Amino acid sequence: MKPRCIWLDCDTGTDDAAAILCAAALPELKLAGLSSVAGNVEGRKTYLNTLRICRLMGRTYPVYAGAAQPLAVPYTPAYGFHGENGLGGVELPLPEHCDAPELPAWEAIYRCAVAQGGELELITTGPMTNAAMALLLHPDLPQYLKRILVMGGSATGGNRTPAAEFNVYADPHAAQTVFTSGVPVVMCGLDVTEQATVTPAQLSALAACGGTVAQTLCRLLATRPDHQRGAVMLHDVVPVLYAARPGLFEGRKAWVRVETKGAITRGKTVTDLYSDKKYPEKNALVLLGVDRSGFARLFFRLILSLDGICTDEACLDQIERGALT
Ligand code: RIB
Ligand code: CA
Repeated sequence: MKPRCIWLDCDTGTDDAAAILCAAALPELKLAGLSSVAGNVEGRKTYLNTLRICRLMGRTYPVYAGAAQPLAVPYTPAYGFHGENGLGGVELPLPEHCDAPELPAWEAIYRCAVAQGGELELITTGPMTNAAMALLLHPDLPQYLKRILVMGGSATGGNRTPAAEFNVYADPHAAQTVFTSGVPVVMCGLDVTEQATVTPAQLSALAACGGTVAQTLCRLLATRPDHQRGAVMLHDVVPVLYAARPGLFEGRKAWVRVETKGAITRGKTVTDLYSDKKYPEKNALVLLGVDRSGFARLFFRLILSLDGICTDEACLDQIERGALT
């Protein structure tokens, strides 16, 4: 079957790095382009980090720089989780050519969507500013996007505030633009991404089996506070793996809107999972569950494939057990 075309827009931090690697490794997907946005760290840093991850896996993709500021709220970084360089303080080499194309990310996304004739699937793993800019500047874009898969939001609580998940909190107006665009949305919120975890022991076993890609990614993930807490949440990997292997997940269609004005609820994705028909329009598929073992084993296999290592079930069993020998 012909690989499906995706575009990955990220605020390359440590789990974005994992998402980029998985998107490159999945045979079901063709990575048409990458773009960066201010989020975990400033926009220039996320652009260069995206280039660093492409260099790490020895692949070249079109990479475009996007928004440095949210649409309507002040920019707020997440140094506490991803470090000031976005990669947990780990220094990775840059490719030879690092200048960003003149064309901004939102224009590149639009042109790619038109060129793909409506087959492009847009995946966002950071604040949705670039996606929103493309939608606002090009009212015909919805006819050229098959769907938008977002890591963001939550049908329940938040991680940036009690009400809001970071990517939506960072640019709530952009998220609202995406959810009300008319393009089908797959919401990969904290409800599912906090289940999509790997343990430090599994990552050590993955590094022991792998080469440069696996070992470097595990170094990045080991810098995260959730690694210290014993379960690394691979938030950004979820929309990528859902795009290729939806059978690993379960979810329900629901009406979703974003709170953009609330003093304490800004960035809340108000999710009507128990409809009393007040909100008949179900604009999003909200993911709520994942086959945790299947997710982790696929993740291990994809990362090792980038080191040219084919893994059999016995090897995956060993990594899943967190066994080093
Ligand atoms: O809330 C998790 C999200 O915020 C992830 O995309 C992570 O990279 C951070 O951007
Ligand atoms: Ca991210």
